[in-house]
Amino acid sequence: MADTYDFGLVGLGVMGRNFILNVADNGFTAFGNDLDEEKVSALIEEGGDTSKVNATSDVETFVGSLTAPRKIMLLVPAGKIVDSVIDGLLPHLDKGDIIIDGGNSFYTDTDRREAYLKEKGINFFGAGVSGGAEGARKGPSIMPGGSKEAYQHVKPIFEAVSAKYKGEPCVAYLGPKSAGNYVKMVHNGIEYGLMQLTSEIYDLLKKAGGLNNKELHKTYSDWNQGRLQSFLVEITSEIFEQKDELTDNDLVDMILDKAKQKGTGKWTSQNAMDLGIPVPTIDIAVSMREISALKDERIKADELYDRPTPKAVDKSDFTSKAEQALYFAFIITYAQGMHQLADASKEYGYELELGEIAKIWRAGCIIRAALLADITEAYQADKDLQNLLLSPSFVEKVKSTVDAARELVSYGAANGIPLPGLSNALTYFDAYTSSRLPLNLIQAQRDYFGSHTYERLDREGIFHSEWNK
Ligand code: 6PG
Repeated sequence: MADTYDFGLVGLGVMGRNFILNVADNGFTAFGNDLDEEKVSALIEEGGDTSKVNATSDVETFVGSLTAPRKIMLLVPAGKIVDSVIDGLLPHLDKGDIIIDGGNSFYTDTDRREAYLKEKGINFFGAGVSGGAEGARKGPSIMPGGSKEAYQHVKPIFEAVSAKYKGEPCVAYLGPKSAGNYVKMVHNGIEYGLMQLTSEIYDLLKKAGGLNNKELHKTYSDWNQGRLQSFLVEITSEIFEQKDELTDNDLVDMILDKAKQKGTGKWTSQNAMDLGIPVPTIDIAVSMREISALKDERIKADELYDRPTPKAVDKSDFTSKAEQALYFAFIITYAQGMHQLADASKEYGYELELGEIAKIWRAGCIIRAALLADITEAYQADKDLQNLLLSPSFVEKVKSTVDAARELVSYGAANGIPLPGLSNALTYFDAYTSSRLPLNLIQAQRDYFGSHTYERLDREGIFHSEWNK
């Protein structure tokens, strides 16, 4: 069996096993590796024909079974494990071989690994893979970054296994170095924003609109037939239908309201701050997971403060406004993420084409949505578009839905229902579309107490004034 397998994969957890079976389904032979013998046996059994899918726990046998240049994908948890797997592979590799990290690695780790492996003649790719376990099995969206030449070896396999949008593969070479991991990080930041918004609208519909889970299921599933069509809206509608196995209740009502996180949303926010690009809807989505974790404090505080009883609303009108507001805020969230990508591309030399990114997000990934087809077109019409809000094709979409967002944000504020994502999206919009903001006063204050200087509207130059003299 030496030298006969097209593709190697290290890490035979659910994602790895599914990905390798997907590779085999598409006519490539694949070889898996994991230290855990049970995982190795499980894959061999599931793969059926060992001339097509095989596995071993022995690294040397694994590497020796792959055709040159070897294409080895790692689907292991981000962090130190990636480095130790790489070090384990290295003694057996030849110059020109390719290692692809398919996990959610932090982009600077990818840059470091790429430089380290380049010295040894090994090509390293950071490739974001989105779509969860099912995506890995049936077609994920794949976001690879690294050497463009080496990508040609990986391209046929990735194009075959990726999700397809109207026949087009949801994978594209994105750029050098850590471009792939960076794009996946921002994908996840957007994911956090969309999830936060979807949950706020659920809260509103439940507490103000009085919708029960059956009605919520119907509402989200109706929305999924329209312009809000998206993976997250679709699964939300299904969540409301799920019964609990342990009680007679609906499962969603039995789940503790503390959201966990693995860090990618936080990294997106932190990096946006470093770049100086505002992504407040993503920031607040991270903060809300943090607030959610303070359950004990929230219970104590809830007892100390009164909360208004939500005023009755017209259910059908309210639901229609909720659809508009969610659509508006989804646009704003994508706009913020794309804006960050545009800036990062310049800062880190990624040479990203935003139209290509929107294109490969149209299917397979967690943030796939009908809106991404429109976003793709907006960037195809103007590849240097600074912000989606400046695209003529988005002006009408935003204008026709922003008033609903205003109404719901006011309702939430007056009735004590927290809508941080929606209100941040609205505030971002109002600020971004204001030609004059009150930050002149901040400049005056800075100059007043610290002689930090200011610029003027009417003439060029840097000015300082003696205040209160
Ligand atoms: C994907 C997901 C995936 C991961 C989430 C969960 O694109 O398939 O983004 O990478 O499941 O990032 O992240 P949190 O645990 O931080 O919510």
